[in-house]
Amino acid sequence: MYRSHTCGELRMAHVNQNVTLSGWVQKVRNLGGMTFIDLRDRYGITQLVLDVESNKALSDEANKLGREFVIQVTGNVAERSSKNAKMPTGDVEILIDSLKLLNASELPPFTIEDETDGGDELRMKYRYLDLRRNPVRSNLELRHKLGFEVRNFLNNQNFIETETPVLIKSTPEGARDFIVPSRMNSGEFYALPQSPQVFKQLLMVAGFDRYFQIVKCFRDEDLRADRQPEFTQIDCEMAFVDQQDVLSTFEGMTKHLFKVIKDVEFDFEFPQMPFSDAIKYYGSDKPDIRFDMKFVEMKEMLADCGFKVFEDAEYVGGICAQGCANYTRKQLDKLTDFVRKPQIGANGLVYVKCNEDGTFKSSVDKFFDADALQKWADAFGAKPGDLILVLAGDKSKTQNALCELRLEMGERLGLRDKNMFSPLWVVDFPLLEWDEDSERFHAMHHPFTSPKDEDLHLIDSDPGKVRANAYDLVINGVEIGGGSIRIHNDQLQNKMFKLLGFTQEEAEAQFGFLMNAFKYGAPPHGGVAFGFDRLASLFAGLDTIRDVIAFPKNNSGRDVMIDSPSPVATEQLNELSIKLSEVKKD
Ligand code: AMO
Repeated sequence: MYRSHTCGELRMAHVNQNVTLSGWVQKVRNLGGMTFIDLRDRYGITQLVLDVESNKALSDEANKLGREFVIQVTGNVAERSSKNAKMPTGDVEILIDSLKLLNASELPPFTIEDETDGGDELRMKYRYLDLRRNPVRSNLELRHKLGFEVRNFLNNQNFIETETPVLIKSTPEGARDFIVPSRMNSGEFYALPQSPQVFKQLLMVAGFDRYFQIVKCFRDEDLRADRQPEFTQIDCEMAFVDQQDVLSTFEGMTKHLFKVIKDVEFDFEFPQMPFSDAIKYYGSDKPDIRFDMKFVEMKEMLADCGFKVFEDAEYVGGICAQGCANYTRKQLDKLTDFVRKPQIGANGLVYVKCNEDGTFKSSVDKFFDADALQKWADAFGAKPGDLILVLAGDKSKTQNALCELRLEMGERLGLRDKNMFSPLWVVDFPLLEWDEDSERFHAMHHPFTSPKDEDLHLIDSDPGKVRANAYDLVINGVEIGGGSIRIHNDQLQNKMFKLLGFTQEEAEAQFGFLMNAFKYGAPPHGGVAFGFDRLASLFAGLDTIRDVIAFPKNNSGRDVMIDSPSPVATEQLNELSIKLSEVKKD
C-alpha cells in the first residue's frame, strides 16, 4: 500500500493515527534541530516533521531530499503547536518514523509553485511539471467538471452522445483543413474535421433527434489567445425545432453550467441583438455588453461642417467615456498612438473634453465652436466630466477601430470585470458575405445554413441582403458558440451551392452524399456548437484558452514538448507516394 491518505486529507480528527503518505517534496527546511518537509500531491500539502536528535539516520536521509523527489513516509498524526490557518491540513503534522525514496528528481527548470519563475515557452516544454502547479491543475479540474455537467444536462434532455469519424472529407467551415495522406488509397487524402457538421445533420436524417458530442475539431488557421489548431466543441443538433427552440435549450444549458459551477444565477432571458445592431452600436459581431458606451454615428449631423476629414470620410462615429475629461495631453497622445497601431488602423483621434465648468476643450476647436460641440455632447448624452472620442474613415475599418477603442476604454475604466457575466445572443446574421479577393459570395456561417423565409424573395435579386437563421452566443465579448437552422431541402441546398459558386459537378463531388440523404425524408433541424475551451477559460477567468488545455500548442502551432510538427522518414513518405518539393523555412 503506497498511501493510506492523500496529502490534502488529514485533520484534527486524525490525530494519533498512524498514516502512510506518498507524494512529491515541495520543500525541506531545517530549523533548530528539526527537519520539516512539505509533501505535495494533487489534493494538497501536508507537513512532515522529524527530530534530528532522536532519529539521526532518518534525518540525514531527509536532508538529502531535493525538490520534486517522490517519497513515501509513515508516521503519527500530531496537533501542530503553531497552526497554519491558510492550509486545509494546517492544524496537523506527521511525526515520521520511516521514509522511503520512491524516485529522485533532477532540479526542475522552474519552481513548482503558484507564482512560478518559469516563462511561457519553458513551462510549455516541461508541461508535465507545469501541470503540477495548483492554478493549472485547478483549471483542468474545472474543465472536467464542466464536461461532466454538460453531459449530465444534455443526457437529462434526451440528447445522445454519438461519436463521428475523425478521418473524413473536407468540411467547409471557413478555415483550411488539416489533411492526412492515405497509404491504402495512394494519392488520396482524408481531411480532419473542422467540425462534425455534416455528420450531425446526417444523424438527424437518421432520426436521432437530439445529438451531442464533446469533440475535437481541427482548423489550420492563424492562432490567437482564443484559438488553437485543435480545440474542443460541445457539438449539438436537434430535429423538429425552430430557432427559438434551439436558443431556449442552450440558454438552459448555459444557465445550468453557471449555476452549478460558478454559483451565478441568471434570472432573466438572455437578450437577443440583431447582427446589424451589434455592428452599428459596438462595431463587432461579439459585443462586450458588460458596459454600455455605445457608438454614436455622426455623419449626418456633420454634413457641411467644413472639416474636410469628416466631410470626406465614409463614416464618422464616436464613444463617450464617462469621467475621463481630466485626461492629460500625455494620456490622449497615448490613446492616439493606440488607435494608430497598424492592427487597429485609424488615422487619428478627435477628442472633446466636456469640462466640469460646462466649457469644452477639443482637438478640433478650430473647426467647431462651443455651440457645435454642445450638439455633439447632446448626441452622446455626455455630461460635464466626460470625454468624447471620435474616429473617421472607411466604414468597416473605422467601426473596427472604434470597437477596439471602446474595449480599451472599458478596460481602463475597470468595466470589464471578470466576475461579471453578460450573455447575449447575436441573431439575424447575413446569409452571405462578399469576398473581394475571390469576387464571390462566401457563406457567413456555413453553406448548410437556412435563409430567413421572409428574405427568400431576395435570394436571386439581392443575395447580399438575405439574412440567415443563424445565431451566436456571446459572453463578455467572447464568441462562445454559434449555430443555425439548416436547409433540409435538396433544391434550396443546391441553390445555395450555386450562389456560393459551386458548379453542379463540384457540389455533387463534395456534397453528393448529403444531397442524397436529403432525398430520403430529412426532418427540419438545427443546432449549435459551443467552444468548450473558451467556455472553460471564461469560467476560470483566464485570457487564453491554453491554460484549460492539458497539452496545448504555442502560437506557431507547435507542441514544443514533443517537438511537433516534425519531419518524417523518407520511407514513410515513399509509402505514401509523397515527394516533398523545396521546404519553406521562415
Ligand atoms: P463555429 O465555426 O462557429 O461553428 O464554431 C463553434 C464554436 O467553436 C469555437 N471555436 C474555436 N475555439 C478554439 N479554437 C478555434 N480555432 C475555434 N474555432 C471555433 C468558438 C465557436 O463559436 N459547425 C458549426 C456549428 C453549427 O452550425 O452547429 C461550427 O463549427 O467558440
